[in-house]
Amino acid sequence: MLDLVDWEARFERQIAAACIAADPAHDLAHFQRVVAAAKTIARSEGGRLEVVVPAAWLHDFVLVPKDSPDRPRASRIAAAAAREWLSAEGYPGEWLDAIEHAIAAHSFTARIEPVTIEAKVVQDADRLDAIGAVGIARCLMLGGVMGRPLYDATEPIPKQRTPDDARSTIDHFYTKLFSLAATMQTATGRAEAERRTTFMRAYIEQLEREILACVELQG
Ligand code: NI
Repeated sequence: MLDLVDWEARFERQIAAACIAADPAHDLAHFQRVVAAAKTIARSEGGRLEVVVPAAWLHDFVLVPKDSPDRPRASRIAAAAAREWLSAEGYPGEWLDAIEHAIAAHSFTARIEPVTIEAKVVQDADRLDAIGAVGIARCLMLGGVMGRPLYDATEPIPKQRTPDDARSTIDHFYTKLFSLAATMQTATGRAEAERRTTFMRAYIEQLEREILACVELQG
């Protein structure tokens, strides 16, 4: 019988050691939230925890920088490395194929269709962490690290122009974050994604009101 509690402690130690130098959006708390969300989704949607738990803990086992040419392959690289590590640690081999698939398919940029319920659960859990209040915070922290301005002063919210998240952080809501709810794989994940997206829209509306009010105060 697999002692998942003991394995989880090992996963957490491994990730805590590995993500010291990672970006602020991929700190240990990100992994803890994704694991918690994955367990919650699996409770209502199904999925073997022997696959969901390691895949959620190790989904970014190798972090490839967002601007690297290897980025589209990042989740495959992470999946292979996680499999190798699990195998060396003595994790039961019967779960390794499913874990590798769930990690490879979780990524937005990899464009790999999740074919198992475990892969769907892990993908939804990771996407939920990109949206809502936590998602906003992570997006802004990453924008800061990348040295991008919060918004384009000529048109803060991209309505007339094409959104470009290489130029402004807020544009990332329009290139990615607002579209994530439609990509959710499970009913549980989708319902929560819709709640979080409503909150993000309210945030952007308030941000726009404040920016416009500043312009009026100046004038
Ligand atoms: Ni992640």
